[in-house]
Amino acid sequence: MIAVPPTAEPTEKAAIRSHYDLATPFYRLVWGPHIHHGLWSEDDAAREVPAATPRAAQEALTDTLAALAAVEGGGRVLDVGCGMGGSSIRLARRRGCHVTGITLSGVQRRWAATVARLQGVGGLTTFLQADAETVDFPRGAFDVVWSIECTEHLFDKPAFFRRAADWLAPGGRMALCAWLAAEDAERPEKRGQVESVCDAFLCPSLGSFGDYRRWLTLAGLEVVREDDWTRRVERTWEVCAARVRRLGLHGLARLVDRRQARFAEHFTTLLDAYRSGAMQYGCIVARLA
Ligand SMILES: C[S@@+](CC[C@H](N)C(=O)[O-])C[C@H]1O[C@@H](n2cnc3c(N)ncnc32)[C@H](O)[C@@H]1O
Repeated sequence: MIAVPPTAEPTEKAAIRSHYDLATPFYRLVWGPHIHHGLWSEDDAAREVPAATPRAAQEALTDTLAALAAVEGGGRVLDVGCGMGGSSIRLARRRGCHVTGITLSGVQRRWAATVARLQGVGGLTTFLQADAETVDFPRGAFDVVWSIECTEHLFDKPAFFRRAADWLAPGGRMALCAWLAAEDAERPEKRGQVESVCDAFLCPSLGSFGDYRRWLTLAGLEVVREDDWTRRVERTWEVCAARVRRLGLHGLARLVDRRQARFAEHFTTLLDAYRSGAMQYGCIVARLA
């Protein structure tokens, strides 16, 4: 696991909350209703101009994770770090799932609840402003604990997985997508890149595939699937960087908050970390052992 370097400004939960409160309209404008990478097919990822649009690639990531985790119609899903409700609403609309979404951000909670209502799935979804590291749910309340690109922001990841395992019903699955440090990210030339990403993107630490496997196993889960999607998602940052440039958003972000501007200025740091092998993008599915 690689953490924010001691020389950097420490990551604080309040800064993560305020980032999502302030930056959610930017994400919507630049990328769309899902705040996660797009997943292009291997052929498409290799093409200079891919056939799939960024929006279709975002939906493909959600749908592929749902298929791999066998998210069933009518299932009870907890969406940890639900953003604007992109996954929650899609799982409710396409699979009739009953979804509870939690987010640190009050802005995102209201946004997600409003969009869910407008899209006719207000009755299948519940959105709460809650911290995944302290919230509690009854034992066995969910068939699937789902989390796309949120565990990066957690301070005690092993403790979160221990608690989340308890919320799963027998046969329950954990479906995750996460930014990962490479297994050899301790090497000096890689470590610096991962630390810069942690610092710029408000991640107290990034785990590797091996770290996640260990935390999930210690929580009583069996990892049934691990996929490295790095090559298939990295185009995301080229698209975002081009859109931010075109829309002139750097200046606007700086006016709103310097910390937010740092985020928008580091898209290439992340892309470079993927390309150098310092970081990976992982999909992980685990089930109660
Ligand atoms: C990169 S966004 C991903 C949003 C969503 N999963 C999606 O794919 O569109 C990260 C999300 O994690 C949430 N988050 C970060 N730390 C959290 C915590 N401790 N508890 C609950 N949510 C958290 C943020 O509020 C934000 O909604």
